[in-house]
Amino acid sequence: MTLEGLLPELEVVRKDFPILERTVHDGLPLVYLDSANTSQKPQIVIDTMVDHLEHHNANVARAMHTLGAESTEAFETARDKVAAFIGAPERSEVIFTKNASEALNLIANTMAWRGEHQVGEGDEVVITEMEHHSNIVPWQLLTDRTGATLRWFGLTDEGQLDLSNADELINERTAVVAFTWVSNMLGTINPVAELTRRAHAVGALAIVDASQAAPQLPIDLAAMPETDRPDAVVFTGHKVVGPTGIGVLWGRRGLLEGLPPFLGGGEMIETVTMELSTYAGIPHKFEAGTPPIAEAIGLGAAVEYLGHIGLDAIHTHEQAITGYALDGLRTVKGLRILGPLDAAQRGGAISFELEGVHPHDIAQIVDSRGVAVRAGHHCAKPAHARFGVQASTRMSSYLYTTPEEIDALVEALEYTRSYFRLD
Ligand code: ALA
Repeated sequence: MTLEGLLPELEVVRKDFPILERTVHDGLPLVYLDSANTSQKPQIVIDTMVDHLEHHNANVARAMHTLGAESTEAFETARDKVAAFIGAPERSEVIFTKNASEALNLIANTMAWRGEHQVGEGDEVVITEMEHHSNIVPWQLLTDRTGATLRWFGLTDEGQLDLSNADELINERTAVVAFTWVSNMLGTINPVAELTRRAHAVGALAIVDASQAAPQLPIDLAAMPETDRPDAVVFTGHKVVGPTGIGVLWGRRGLLEGLPPFLGGGEMIETVTMELSTYAGIPHKFEAGTPPIAEAIGLGAAVEYLGHIGLDAIHTHEQAITGYALDGLRTVKGLRILGPLDAAQRGGAISFELEGVHPHDIAQIVDSRGVAVRAGHHCAKPAHARFGVQASTRMSSYLYTTPEEIDALVEALEYTRSYFRLD
């Protein structure tokens, strides 16, 4: 089917992802609609990691031999590729972490410790009701440990941030405003520039969880005016067609230099005596121990692959598929979409409930038709509570998703209705 906005080479792109060829349940084609959970991997990422392990494997930075030099070169080149992917003003501002959760925990933990950005009693930390747990719990731990106060933006019935009390919420006591760029449950795209500007106007830090944004929105940090550029942006590798076990913390140099180290160990030091240690500069100050080397190199290949296709084209594709999915899902009787109904205001994750059927049952029944979706609270319990549901079913598309796959989901949902004899 042709739909305006689809990637022109969609069938070619799909061939890059070997897993999309497979079948499930004795021959049904796989319809993978769980990319917000984890994306599939193109052959180039798989091959790059295998090639590294087969031909270049050695530890980085410390091995004084050919393989060590090759491995270090590949690892640091991956950092360059990630920096280019997000338009980082400086490559050394890119820190490799295990995932986005670790990146957020790194910031929230080190802000409790002595340093330029130490949070204490009287300070306020502002988050939002639509955050993934990874952008809630670390801030709860921080405020609990320091005596600071946790506050949050509520949500409108349409699934947008309720900014009506923004002037009161972000005030001279605010130390941090931490929020998601794109909600993993509601799909909502948040006004990053506006919230960052508000944070900066009161001297607070703006910390952005870009786990769902980085896969589908072009990000160019260097192009943002400084007032609108967040102080830190985090994302995970496995949602941008890279491997698991690798995440990214981009932080403004001034922020990263003002935070104390997170984990202590090899490679993050300048010198160590039995009495005390001094620390390496960024990025190594935050990369204690042997890093996930093959994973970082795989992530480099992944973001390079996305860059070749073009984030603008991927975003347009996602919007076309999302619009098509919103239309299709709304034809299913008893189905309620949670979050904005306008594709232009949301990303490619669409959560919904189907009256009379538990999300886990929906997921199992559509899986029996070959369609993979996620069911549960998607690690966003407060956002579900806000909409009066414990759990939802979520479909999420990506650059390889076709309109026919959305049709397959809609058909599987109709089958679910008939299975449960809903009128
Ligand atoms: N993997 C989580 C999700 O599915 C974050 O949204």
